[in-house]
Amino acid sequence: MTIRVLVNGAKGRMGQECLRAVEGDPELDLAGATDLGDDLAGAIAQQQAEVVVDFTTAGAGFENARTIVAAGARPVVGTSGFTPEQVAELETMCAERRLGGLVAPNFAIGAVLMMRFAAEAARYLPHVEIIELHHDLKIDAPSGTAIKTAQLIGEARAEAPAPKVKEEELAPGARGTAQYPVRIHSVRLPGLVAHQEVILGGTGQTLTVRHDSISRESFMPGVLLAVKKVMTLERLYYGLEHLL
Ligand SMILES: NC(=O)c1ccc[n+]([C@@H]2O[C@H](COP(=O)([O-])OP(=O)(O)OC[C@H]3O[C@@H](n4cnc5c(N)ncnc54)[C@H](O)[C@@H]3O)[C@@H](O)[C@H]2O)c1
Repeated sequence: MTIRVLVNGAKGRMGQECLRAVEGDPELDLAGATDLGDDLAGAIAQQQAEVVVDFTTAGAGFENARTIVAAGARPVVGTSGFTPEQVAELETMCAERRLGGLVAPNFAIGAVLMMRFAAEAARYLPHVEIIELHHDLKIDAPSGTAIKTAQLIGEARAEAPAPKVKEEELAPGARGTAQYPVRIHSVRLPGLVAHQEVILGGTGQTLTVRHDSISRESFMPGVLLAVKKVMTLERLYYGLEHLL
């Protein structure tokens, strides 16, 4: 039995890649493709979609995910911009309906490992800053991957080291933003896809953990794995690492 998959955001860069990946997988059946202005709930019902992959835009992703779950399909969401409260609401919605689901800030296995290694290293080298680099059409900053990395580092290290000096920003934003509280710096340039460096500093040494997605294909093994795995789950997870 093949799994009926609908791709939402199908006209976008990630959506196009997902269409190719779903069509190329013999275990999956492309049930439909929707984008801005289409009736998502109607398409899910009409096409009897079992899983909906959503790569749309920050701000739209949460409402889309609610629509998907309310329609009885399993969400596999890569769209960025989810707050912890929104993820919690989706967890409740999925648990009530015993539906599997995933919201993942990064579907590249190398990025999942980069986050894990960075969090592990921060236990021993707690001075950490993140530089995330993306193509210049990315709307939101900082990236969901950077925020998730900061969260994992925040949970892994005992406490954030106190600053050695009282810093003064001569221009606002010079020191980036602080989350959990880890400094994140965002770079946007043509030629880039999705990249991240986590730099840890210690006495007389630095350690850099870096991941590069050099094409959007890098996300597809993770997306396909999630589409298959959510069929066997009865709850929603945040982060691909929970499905590996
Ligand atoms: N999790 C990951 O691994 C990962 C990887 C790459 C990109 N992303 C994220 O995926 C999202 C899409 O990235 P992209 O580069 O494909 O963007 P994109 O702008 O190329 O495509 C977005 C598509 O979504 C459509 N859209 C917008 N609002 C919609 C709505 N309410 N309903 C249906 N469709 C809607 C747009 O018309 C467009 O076709 C972004 O949030 C990006 O940050 C996540």
